[in-house]
Amino acid sequence: MNQPLTHDAISVAAPEYVKNQKLIEWVAEVAALTKPDNIHWCDGSQAEYDRLCDLMVVAGSFKRLNPAKRKNSFLAISDPQDVARVEDRTFICSHNKDDAGPTNNWVAPDEMRATLKPLFAGCMRGRTMYVVPFSMGPIGSPIAHIGVELSDSPYVAINMRIMTRMGRAVIDQLGSNGEFVPCIHTVGKPLEAGEKDVVWPNNPTKYIVHYPETREIWSFGSGYGGNALLGKKCFALRIASTMGRDQGWFAEHMLILGVTSPEGRKYHIAAAFPSACGKTNFSMMIPPKGFEGWKVTTIGDDIAWIKPRKDAATGKTRFHAINPESGYFGVAPGTNRKTNPNCIDSLNQDVIFTNVALTDDGDVWWEGLTETPPAHLIDWQGKDWTPADGAAGRKAAHPNSRFTMAATNNPAVDPNWNDPDGVPIDAFLFGGRRSTTVPLVSEARDWEEGVYMAATMGSETTAAITGQVGVVRRDPFAMLAFAGYNMSDYFQHWLSLGKKLMASGAELPKIYCVNWFRKDEAGQFVWPGFGENMRVLAWILERVDGKAKGKETIFGICPEYKDLHWDGLDFSAEQFNDVISVSKSDWQAEVQLHSELFEQLKHRLPAELLATRSKIEQRLGS
Ligand code: GTP
Ligand code: SPV
Ligand code: MN
Repeated sequence: MNQPLTHDAISVAAPEYVKNQKLIEWVAEVAALTKPDNIHWCDGSQAEYDRLCDLMVVAGSFKRLNPAKRKNSFLAISDPQDVARVEDRTFICSHNKDDAGPTNNWVAPDEMRATLKPLFAGCMRGRTMYVVPFSMGPIGSPIAHIGVELSDSPYVAINMRIMTRMGRAVIDQLGSNGEFVPCIHTVGKPLEAGEKDVVWPNNPTKYIVHYPETREIWSFGSGYGGNALLGKKCFALRIASTMGRDQGWFAEHMLILGVTSPEGRKYHIAAAFPSACGKTNFSMMIPPKGFEGWKVTTIGDDIAWIKPRKDAATGKTRFHAINPESGYFGVAPGTNRKTNPNCIDSLNQDVIFTNVALTDDGDVWWEGLTETPPAHLIDWQGKDWTPADGAAGRKAAHPNSRFTMAATNNPAVDPNWNDPDGVPIDAFLFGGRRSTTVPLVSEARDWEEGVYMAATMGSETTAAITGQVGVVRRDPFAMLAFAGYNMSDYFQHWLSLGKKLMASGAELPKIYCVNWFRKDEAGQFVWPGFGENMRVLAWILERVDGKAKGKETIFGICPEYKDLHWDGLDFSAEQFNDVISVSKSDWQAEVQLHSELFEQLKHRLPAELLATRSKIEQRLGS
């Protein structure tokens, strides 16, 4: 339904099924500002999806992969200047600077609007504006919320159909008075009359802007991932975290998994790991040898919305989590049949690959997919690549190359992944990428210590963000880049909601800190990771049930060698010591880093965190 629009038109003919006057007026207003040539209201149908993919192929922006290898799948290659989230260009524009806090970039809303207005004026000239209505969470769920993204990128429209519930059903749910979060996105590259488009339009100037008080998102200049698919980090984390603060729930950078014991008891885990630190992998994990009869199922791989809900049967209040998304935008490198077999089996059809390499037979490849690379590839920048280039350190796939696939592609998708009530959470896990210091697993003695562990979490940076890779930084709750408000207030929200629920007799999940990434002197990972992480998960579940033993340390309660199941894995007590040890000297240095974070956040920092630090210092001193 492409309606021609003259550049000065301000009224837009919406399809007759759109009844929401506010939406119609807003679309007209944005069109008047951005001046697209066309407006297309996405209905979310397969026919529309196929048509947009074809359009991308004709434009040279998509390459159709060999259908015998990857049915109905495509490869997109981005501009090398637009390959990951841009944290230094991401802004939280609350009225008061203190409400954004010291970890967010802040500009006053009026000033930011004045900056953006001229950038957005005419920014969609020569392009089609896609109206993308989407629901984060099952349509109609009491935990779900609706957004509408206006974007001049067909890549965004295509990806949003996989990543969210998108299309006409959402417009119907919205009805004439429904609320939606308005999200405006442009690649920031208007086309002059007769100008030929490039395969990945974007702009060196980038702005990812949030107005938490009016719940608006404005994104300029990038077409990649979380910069452009605005339902994901911008809405489901930054805007939703402020909604959760106001309404008494959590929006978190967490995977959600179900795990069923051989006896048929089912548990649910929510786990926060920073970007490219193993959420997708953990959420799809296959239990290893020695864990026959155990089953792990995926509810979500990146984001959790968690609300306290009263169980009808027991009358107890518990945290219930939904996955607001409906697909995975996952890291390709490192994914293979050994590390993540469920993922490999998910990637056979209906996948959009971005920035991976192309094989001579029209398939895809990335570092780690196979032990021996193909003899020849076209790399992610369109250049010839041979294993010699790999040996010289040139990567065939970009380290932040990704796949977009529907949750329903996943053979391990949980039967309740779509349940509007969510799943009850038994434990929260927090885990960074730390080559030293932090033990394989440690249990918080109570909620406050758990919040402390999450708040002080450090992690080595990855290619999921632009900038330097491999530097340890504090990444509280894996939310450094995603908390839409003051980080100290965010800590307070976790403490206060926990306290309030405990006082009302609710059962709170236990909290754990995990680290799959300790390295030896040669720089090799000591812990085998991936499916073997089940051994840690099993200990956690036994602790939840009050069965397994553990030992008090400076930093929580850790298992001893004899407390884990080792059937099917050759891993010595000595090796275990290398991943579980909590060293006094390491922790003296680590607590110093906690103190630096607390100094930065001191303005509204909850006193409970300082009290917990004192307890650690006492243990270190004794
Ligand atoms: P985002 O989508 O950026 O939020 O990332 P994510 O947390 O979902 O990360 P993902 O599971 O995609 O993993 C990122 C990288 O970490 C991949 O290269 C994985 O192969 C690697 N990885 C995942 N789990 C493990 C593990 O247990 N051990 C080791 N050594 N590497 C892992
Ligand atoms: C992350 O960076 O944490 C991601 C990828 O999940 S993106 O959607 O690009 O934010
Ligand atoms: Mn993520």
